[in-house]
Amino acid sequence: MFVWPCSVILAEYVWQQRSRFSGSRVVELGAGTSLPGLVAAKVGADVTLTDIAHNTEVLDNIRQVCGLNNVNCTVCFDLEGKGCTLRSIFYTFTSTEIMQVLGLTWGEWDEPIFDLHPDVILGADVLYDSAKFDDLFATITFLLENSPGAVFITTYHNRSGHHLVEFLMVKWGLKCLKLLDGFSFLPSCKAASLQGNIQLVEIALDKEKPKWPSAD
Ligand SMILES: C[S@@+](CC[C@H](N)C(=O)[O-])C[C@H]1O[C@@H](n2cnc3c(N)ncnc32)[C@H](O)[C@@H]1O
Repeated sequence: MFVWPCSVILAEYVWQQRSRFSGSRVVELGAGTSLPGLVAAKVGADVTLTDIAHNTEVLDNIRQVCGLNNVNCTVCFDLEGKGCTLRSIFYTFTSTEIMQVLGLTWGEWDEPIFDLHPDVILGADVLYDSAKFDDLFATITFLLENSPGAVFITTYHNRSGHHLVEFLMVKWGLKCLKLLDGFSFLPSCKAASLQGNIQLVEIALDKEKPKWPSAD
């Protein structure tokens, strides 16, 4: 599996804002190799790493990444391939950090999602397939609704300008709190190996707007 540049930039942001993350509840969506979530756990956040529910390979990889990084890891996945269940397998390592690994497919409403009340939702390079944007934003909006005051922080390749993200925010009743060039806060030693026009945006519910998008 590949650590995407967006993941490195989001992990750096978490590290630079570590006092904000310490003691917070964090859910990472589409975690893959899970670098931002791992950094959040290392600075004291209570982290749930999630990825597509039926992909046991990616969920198993996340579990292994937790082990390699000495993070206590509670894995919740469906042993019969029918989505996430409440049956959990416990892996105990020697550190004090604890993470949960959860199968969570965007736009699907399996039981465990209702127990998630994150302060921060992380998503690195999750805006790459337009066919999945509405499912992704349905999940993000649900989690923000379920957790008053929460923010979604995402890094994405700015291929067609910020208009797409602006459109999705308006559609889903969300607002932009902060928009940064991903390379503006990255130390040059880390930036040297990365390419692309990557932006970081912090998004919250726009309480002035309707909770759910209109049909058009
Ligand atoms: C481009 S990768 C980014 C992985 C990681 N965040 C990174 O930046 O290195 C996109 C991730 O989204 C996950 N994903 C794709 N479709 C998904 C869906 N419908 N529900 C949940 N996760 C999904 C993939 O399994 C993959 O881990």
